[in-house]
Amino acid sequence: MVKMKENDSVVEKRNVRLVHGDSRKLLRGFPDCYFDAIITDPPYGIGFEDYDSSAEVFFELEEEFFRVLKKGGWFVFWWSTKKIPDIAKIKKFAYRWMLIAEIKGATGKSIAGDRTYASIFVFSKGDAKVKARFADMLPAVELPQMNGRKIKQGDFKPTYVQGCLLSMFAGKNGKVLDPFAGFGSLLLSALLTGTGKEVWGVEIDEARFEVAKKILEHERIPGAIPDMLNGLMEKATIGLFGGSE
Ligand SMILES: C[S@@+](CC[C@H](N)C(=O)[O-])C[C@H]1O[C@@H](n2cnc3c(N)ncnc32)[C@H](O)[C@@H]1O
Repeated sequence: MVKMKENDSVVEKRNVRLVHGDSRKLLRGFPDCYFDAIITDPPYGIGFEDYDSSAEVFFELEEEFFRVLKKGGWFVFWWSTKKIPDIAKIKKFAYRWMLIAEIKGATGKSIAGDRTYASIFVFSKGDAKVKARFADMLPAVELPQMNGRKIKQGDFKPTYVQGCLLSMFAGKNGKVLDPFAGFGSLLLSALLTGTGKEVWGVEIDEARFEVAKKILEHERIPGAIPDMLNGLMEKATIGLFGGSE
């Protein structure tokens, strides 16, 4: 297990580590080829929130992502299909596929009308094999329940889908990095499903880090994750996540 410097602010809980800081600095503390998967949701560069004026940090970090990822590792990220021209700038990783999170109820507008899906791009470092197989369209079951709450829907990704990504690209024993952890949906999913041996998140914004810390402490967004989802996650852990490696 990598140790962070004493002055770094870290939340540790079972298989999860959340660090407050800048990925551009903190990733230097990880050895080469440490992670089995990077699963993330970068700044969109659309002015969605204060932090979101530019997506350059994502491209700036490509070399570093490549260094810390194992050969045969997965580089998976949520991003709008609108960003495809920018995504084409990725040089080191091989493009493999696109997954869809199917959203019941629209989350925004597209040029066609309402937007009812979110895209997840899948790249790899050389040849790579999935740890578990799923359909490439995944239901974002809990999203509508988060409407109108403090945490913006576009940011906090559906934990059920995040759990499927962990299962597919990292498995029970995988080491995973989310360099743009935000409110911590990937880390929460890692706790709820027990998927991933070490799942690291880095978040630069102090306020977001503090909210993520609370979410991880309670293992839910207080009041926002319905019982139905908790039931589903349990089923997923047994039925989909168990024994698939
Ligand atoms: C789209 S949000 C991620 C949301 C996340 N999926 C969730 O569950 O809430 C992107 C996050 O990247 C963070 N960020 C931007 N630059 C960063 C950097 N250099 N290091 C670490 N985090 C950064 C932003 O503060 C923001 O919270």
